[in-house]
Amino acid sequence: MMIRAYKGISPALGKGTYIDSSSVLIGDVVLGDDVSIWPLVAARGDVNFIRIGNRTNIQDGSILHLSRSSKSKPEGSPLIIGDDVTVGHKVMLHGCTLGNRILVGMGAIVMDDVIVEDDVIIGAGSLVPPGKHLQSGYLYVGSPVKQARPLNEDEKSFLKESAANYVLLKNDYLAQD
Ligand SMILES: CC(C)(COP(=O)(O)OP(=O)(O)OC[C@H]1O[C@@H](n2cnc3c(N)ncnc32)[C@H](O)[C@@H]1OP(=O)(O)O)[C@@H](O)C(=O)NCCC(=O)NCCS
Repeated sequence: MMIRAYKGISPALGKGTYIDSSSVLIGDVVLGDDVSIWPLVAARGDVNFIRIGNRTNIQDGSILHLSRSSKSKPEGSPLIIGDDVTVGHKVMLHGCTLGNRILVGMGAIVMDDVIVEDDVIIGAGSLVPPGKHLQSGYLYVGSPVKQARPLNEDEKSFLKESAANYVLLKNDYLAQD
């Protein structure tokens, strides 16, 4: 079973979502409309929650998890992802908050309590250390990430296009199932 309850809470799916049958969603996970989850994704909403906004795509082999409540941080670190976000292949998103229209490059790692503002690109293979705040409108690369340069207008447009392309692609997959 790819969609499983934990402690009586089951993942909730928006309209038109596509989830590859090799992926696993557990517990308190809420997906917006037109979200796509590609092969071998694991999203485990057990000791906190996961929220994914409309038209966001989570590509192959990505892992989504979070951190539990602690004395110093009673709310723990949930994972919150906004609208029109592209999460590339084999990305690790852990207990962080991403805004809207973001590209997380292949193989990137984003750690607890990171905040990524709207309209940001994180380069492939980058590491975003705990608690880092990435500013809107910039490219970040490296391990640990550094601000590389402002995004140009083409790149900003691409962020929305990328999400829209994935909506079209998942619609094709839904039509053939
Ligand atoms: C980050 C990225 C967008 C940069 O593209 P770009 O237009 O070639 O960037 P620039 O030419 O402005 O490069 C800026 C600098 O960052 C370096 N750089 C580029 N990508 C990098 C990366 N992923 N990690 C570290 N450094 C990187 C460049 O070598 C350059 O360094 P220099 O100034 O010392 O020469 C691209 O390399 C990338 O990682 N894209 C992610 C694609 C992806 O994973 N998509 C999801 C799956 S569909």
